[in-house]
Amino acid sequence: MSESNRLRIAIQKSGRLSKESQKLLKTCGVKFNVNEQRLIAHSDNMPIDLLRVRDDDIPGLVMDGVVDLGIIGENVLEEEQIERQSLGKPAECIKLRELDFGACRLSLAVPNEFDYQGVSSLEGLRIATSYPNLLRRYMEQKGINYRDCMLKGSVEVAPRAGLSDGICDLVSTGATLEANGLYETDVIYRSMACIIQSTQSQPDDKQALINKILSRINGVVRAKE
Ligand code: PRP
Ligand code: ZN
Ligand code: MG
Repeated sequence: MSESNRLRIAIQKSGRLSKESQKLLKTCGVKFNVNEQRLIAHSDNMPIDLLRVRDDDIPGLVMDGVVDLGIIGENVLEEEQIERQSLGKPAECIKLRELDFGACRLSLAVPNEFDYQGVSSLEGLRIATSYPNLLRRYMEQKGINYRDCMLKGSVEVAPRAGLSDGICDLVSTGATLEANGLYETDVIYRSMACIIQSTQSQPDDKQALINKILSRINGVVRAKE
């Protein structure tokens, strides 16, 4: 594979951050059209390629230097960083700035009928999550032993399905918890979207393009404040 001299930016293919990520880049003057079937969208007016991938894959792609920039939730970034540090894999990237969308929190939640008296109520119980590292860090701080139930999706149905006693999942509006008969007990991590850069040194023209995009992002975000 030849090294591309085009700037590669990874964004979420579909999900909470995808529309806002595209909107931000368009507002910064990057023209492109997304074909839902395609992984890559080439910009028509700048040497930029957008890679549309699963959010969970974005931090690793940046940390491995496969792409130059990524737009991702801080929660996914932090989770991947802890995971990679524990495996001795490259876990470095540069957080260029926090963005003004993608607000959510990673929280513990239990079924409505659960008599929750604080996090010690979870001692020895099973907790379903897609964020095992952030959960472990919190529970270690609190000195609580719990059992894992690792699910990449549908975490919110785990208690009703008898797979777990509680969950640790992202909450934005709270609608998912409510629809599944769960209530939020502890916020363990607050998150926004952010833009990250790989630590690999860039050719001058590519770094200049990154600087230009970042300064436009700064302008766009500040204008909305
Ligand atoms: C999160 C979480 C819930 C939902 C909560 O998923 O897993 O499903 O959002 O939002 P609400 O409080 O507004 O109902 P997300 O969209 O981040 O997608 P993913 O789990 O597929 O990555
Ligand atoms: Zn995801
Ligand atoms: Mg979800």
